[in-house]
Amino acid sequence: MSYSARWMSDGEDDRRPSHRRRCANNSNNMPLQSTTSQQPITIGNRELTSRFFLAPLAGYTHHAFRVMLRRLGGLGLATTDLVQAQMLVSQTRKSMELVETSPEDRPLSVQIFSGVTEQLVQAAKWLEDHGYEGIDINMGCPMAKVNGSGGGARLMCDTTGATEMVGRVIDAVDLPVTVKMRLGWDNENLTAPELAAAFEQIGVAAVTVHGRTRQQGFQGTVNREGIRETVQAVKSMPIIANGDVRNSDEAFSMLDETGCAAVAIGRGAMLDPWIFRKLRDIEQGITPHKPTADEQVAFLSDHFHLMREQHGDYSCFLFRKFAAWYGGRLGIPEDLEDRLRRFESAAEFDSLLKEIRARHGERESEIATALIKVPNGPVEHW
Ligand SMILES: Cc1cc2nc3c(=O)[nH]c(=O)nc-3n(C[C@H](O)[C@H](O)[C@H](O)COP(=O)(O)O)c2cc1C
Repeated sequence: MSYSARWMSDGEDDRRPSHRRRCANNSNNMPLQSTTSQQPITIGNRELTSRFFLAPLAGYTHHAFRVMLRRLGGLGLATTDLVQAQMLVSQTRKSMELVETSPEDRPLSVQIFSGVTEQLVQAAKWLEDHGYEGIDINMGCPMAKVNGSGGGARLMCDTTGATEMVGRVIDAVDLPVTVKMRLGWDNENLTAPELAAAFEQIGVAAVTVHGRTRQQGFQGTVNREGIRETVQAVKSMPIIANGDVRNSDEAFSMLDETGCAAVAIGRGAMLDPWIFRKLRDIEQGITPHKPTADEQVAFLSDHFHLMREQHGDYSCFLFRKFAAWYGGRLGIPEDLEDRLRRFESAAEFDSLLKEIRARHGERESEIATALIKVPNGPVEHW
């Protein structure tokens, strides 16, 4: 079974009765909200209206997906896929696509990566010069091609070097600089608390912590205790907790158990694009929005056509991989989901959409197929 399938199959679903709801004295049968504060969260000069953020997912969290989520409501901050710093400054076609944005796509941070300080500095300046509002430095990527050149999670192995590097970026720009990292390289090197404390000293605006080590890759479970220790290592810099949040119960328990200021949700947003809207509804004390069949089909259609505005016919290829995530929650019958994973033209998509509309809800399982491609095999070979 793929990592993703396993990740999906053991989770609770918002629509199913949860332990939290069963046990609580909650006569309206409403999901409970967190006991932690609901103060607006400020990152640098940006006050965010929600403490639920979108975690970057390379290949997925492009402009179209971010805008679609924003239209549904409740999303605090979004971050682009990781962009190689040197490629950004050279304005390669791929990097320009990754940083494509629009006025509707706010607030946004651009995530950059490199093992070379000067490249990060130049990329940060480029982003500032081109009107971007936030810079996120990747210190969590486990891929060999990123770690091999000293970037991503490799930076967590040299806490002094990483702190100097981030300090140089902060000195070079006026934009808020954030860092996204893991708990450490492996269980013997859990450097997240030490790094977070050092980053706070030099003026990092916030740190996102994915509660796994690089060694873990995407295996095993998220170590919330490790995230909590990182929260406890800083005075007031916001820590954004991340990992395996798939529904509102998991989002609120992440806040409660770690004491974090915000929660970043990645794959959970592809499983349920309404997750941010639902979290906002719960925080406002109203019944979480349950999307109608029409809304679900409209979401599918709008996402694809928005993607097409940017990528033209290449969107057919790009969109296919969303099908495995969307099918379960959007009520797409299995055979139509299968065709959605193979369609080749916009006309084919539109005719498929008609069939989905006509047969919406025939699907038997709400579990997503989730055939997302993540690296296989031992982490050393990534
Ligand atoms: C396909 C995929 C792509 C990812 N791309 C990025 C990335 O570009 N930058 C980054 O910091 N993390 C990236 N991540 C890690 C996620 O941001 C997140 O830390 C991880 O998936 C755990 O959160 P989740 O369980 O909410 O998805 C990626 C993860 C996956 C599965």
